[in-house]
Amino acid sequence: MKVCVVGLGKLGAPLAAVLAAKGHEVTGIDIDAAVVAAIAEGRAPVAEPDFADMLTLARPRLGATTDWDQAVAGADASFVIVPTPSEEGGGFSNRHLLEAVGCLGTVLRGAGRYHVVNITSTVMPGSCDGPIRAALEAASGRKVGEEIGLCYNPEFIALGSVIRDMLYPDMILLGECDARAGDVIEAIYRTVTENAPPVQRMNLVNAETAKIALNAYVTMKISFANFIAEVSEALPGGDVDAVLTALGKDTRIGGKYLKGALGYGGPCFPRDNAAIAALARRLGVQPDLALATDAGNRRQAGRLSAVVARHLPPGGSVAILGLAYKPNTPVVEESQGLMLAADLVARGVAVTAYDPLALTNARAVLGESVRYATSLEDATVNAAIIVIATPDPAFRALPAILERHGGNKIVFDCWRLLAGLPVPARVIGLGQGVPA
Ligand SMILES: NC(=O)c1ccc[n+]([C@@H]2O[C@H](COP(=O)([O-])OP(=O)(O)OC[C@H]3O[C@@H](n4cnc5c(N)ncnc54)[C@H](O)[C@@H]3O)[C@@H](O)[C@H]2O)c1
Repeated sequence: MKVCVVGLGKLGAPLAAVLAAKGHEVTGIDIDAAVVAAIAEGRAPVAEPDFADMLTLARPRLGATTDWDQAVAGADASFVIVPTPSEEGGGFSNRHLLEAVGCLGTVLRGAGRYHVVNITSTVMPGSCDGPIRAALEAASGRKVGEEIGLCYNPEFIALGSVIRDMLYPDMILLGECDARAGDVIEAIYRTVTENAPPVQRMNLVNAETAKIALNAYVTMKISFANFIAEVSEALPGGDVDAVLTALGKDTRIGGKYLKGALGYGGPCFPRDNAAIAALARRLGVQPDLALATDAGNRRQAGRLSAVVARHLPPGGSVAILGLAYKPNTPVVEESQGLMLAADLVARGVAVTAYDPLALTNARAVLGESVRYATSLEDATVNAAIIVIATPDPAFRALPAILERHGGNKIVFDCWRLLAGLPVPARVIGLGQGVPA
C-alpha cells in the first residue's frame, strides 16, 4: 500500500522504515527539515538498535518531505505520530495532532479517494471521536466513515527495542470508526508483523482507554514489586528475588516487570499513569491506585540515595552507571539514574556519572554538577561506591575492572546484574537485606 507517516521522531521514523522495508511505498513528513533530510538520505535520525539495517532495506521505497501535497498524494493511509505533551493535571495536549490533522485534511479535500487517518500518538480518551474527527472533517470537507476513515492505533514499543517490538508485538490495538477503516490498518499490520499477533479491534474511545490503562497497569506492577523489595530489605533473611520469582510463576501474575529494583521512567510509563489519574478525576472516579503507584515510584531514587549516603566513607565519591531511563537508548526523561545523581549532589556527595549512550542528554539536565566519565573504568576506578542504575549488560564487565583496581568498594547492584559473577567488592542488591 501507499502510506504516509506524519512525524518522524523516536517512534515515527522507525515505523516509516519498517513499513517500507516490508514492501509499502512510504513517504514521511515532518516539520523538522533536518529529520526529513536524514530519512531522505537514508540516515537514522534517532539512535535505535537495528534501525540503520531497517533503513537500508527500506531505502528503495522510503522518501521524506516537508510538503503535505507530496506526502499524501495517492496514499491509502497516514499514520500520525506527533508529540502529545503532558499538561498540568496529567492529561495530554492535542495541539500538534490537531495541526497535523488539519494539514492532512486540507490535502485530502481534493483527493477524491478513500484514505484512512490512523492516529498513533497517545491521546486522552474521547480525543479521536471528538476534536480530532471534527478537525479532520472541517479541513477535508469530507465525512468520517463515508469517504475518509479514522483509526486509533497506538504502538506498544519500548525505546531501545522499537524495531523488534514493531515486528513482534504481543497484540495490535486498533480503534476504528468503522470496519472498512480498521480493515485497511489491519491489512497493513499483517504484512509488517512476523508473529501473527492478535488484533484487538474496538471503537475509538475503548482503544484510547486501553492504551493508557495497559501502561498504568504495568507501572502498578513495577511499584508493587518495588514495595515488596522494600519489605524484603527490612526483613532479616529477606530476598525479593526469591519472593517475586515465585509470584511470577503464577499465570495470573506473570514474571515480566516484576523485579523489585529502581523505579520506572521514560517518555510513556510515568505520563500514561498520570493520564489515567487525570481521566478518572475528570469522570468523578477515585484515582487512588494510579496516585499510589506514582507516589511509590517517586520515592525510589531518594530512598536509594539515603542508603548510599549512609555507606559512603568520608570524602568518598559515588559512581552511577546508567543515566538513560533504560539500557540501549540515550533518552533520559524521568530517569532514575539522573534522579539519584541529583539527590546525591543535593546531599553534597561527589558523583561521577557514566552511560554508554546518554552522556550528552544527561549533561543537558545535570549540567556540571557531576563529573562525566568516558568509560566504565574511568567512572569506577576512584569511586568508593558504585551504583548500577540500569540493567545494561555492558556493566557486567565491572568485576574484571574491580579485579584490576581493587580497593574497598561497595557496589549497589539495583538489578542484581552481577548475580553469579565473582565480584571483588561488597555487593548490595536492592531488596536483599541492606544493612541498616
Ligand atoms: N517514544 C516512545 O517510547 C513512545 C511510545 C509509545 C507512544 N509514543 C507516543 O507517540 C507520540 C510521538 O512520540 P515520539 O517519542 O515519537 O515523539 P518525538 O518528539 O520523538 O517525535 C515527534 C516528531 O513529530 C514532529 N512533528 C511535530 N509536530 C508536527 C506536525 N504538525 N507535523 C509533522 N510533524 C510534526 C516533530 O518534529 C518530531 O520529529 C507521542 O504521542 C508519544 O506519547 C511514544
